[in-house]
Amino acid sequence: MRSRLLVSAAGLIIWGCSSPPSTPPAEPFGDVQVLPLGPLTYFQAHCARCHGPYGAFYPEPFKSDPATLVTRIDEMARGPGDSPLDAANLAAQVAFHRVMRAGGVFLSLTSIEGGLVRGEASAGAEVEIVGPWGRMTAEVDGHLWKCRIDDVSGPWVVEGRIGSERSTLNPRKRAYTVPGGGG
Ligand code: HEC
Repeated sequence: MRSRLLVSAAGLIIWGCSSPPSTPPAEPFGDVQVLPLGPLTYFQAHCARCHGPYGAFYPEPFKSDPATLVTRIDEMARGPGDSPLDAANLAAQVAFHRVMRAGGVFLSLTSIEGGLVRGEASAGAEVEIVGPWGRMTAEVDGHLWKCRIDDVSGPWVVEGRIGSERSTLNPRKRAYTVPGGGG
């Protein structure tokens, strides 16, 4: 009984603090992961002219083994892509390639401004944000999505779906999904 009381008191404190902030904090999660240079937007701008939209012209499977793939993407970004990637964006681009090849749904989170959350998803995906307040359907435009949520400081995740393929992005862990559907 006592522990139950403590739990609900803690719940009140957490949710009490997070209910509508008058000025939204710049980084509402504190440790939230956001990647302003979305991997899909980058790919479409710098790689798609040779490798097709979202990599449609790539050989299947890749000729490169998983370790070489990282080096190849790095070289391509510096060379024909003409737009070198830093370590964080290279890792995200590699994750996009791996998810694409595994046939999964790729998701990224590119910005949080006030209650407006934006990101990317594999073309054709339906995107929802799921939090303590329920499920919100994101507006999808090509590979970009956006969604206004009531409380950005709570524990929410982004879910993507294409047919029976699903993936979940947990923004406290990473700003993009990796193969296996995790975030
Ligand atoms: C001007 C055309 C061109 C552009 C632009 C280009 N590539 Fe390439 N890319 C190639 C060619 C040609 C190959 C095949 C070379 C080979 O087999 O070694 C290749 C190979 C690759 C491979 C290896 C594929 C496999 O089967 O292992 C990857 C990965 C790759 N590119 C990623 C990228 C990325 C990421 C970008 C954007 C930053 C990019 N490329 C931009 C022409 C291009």
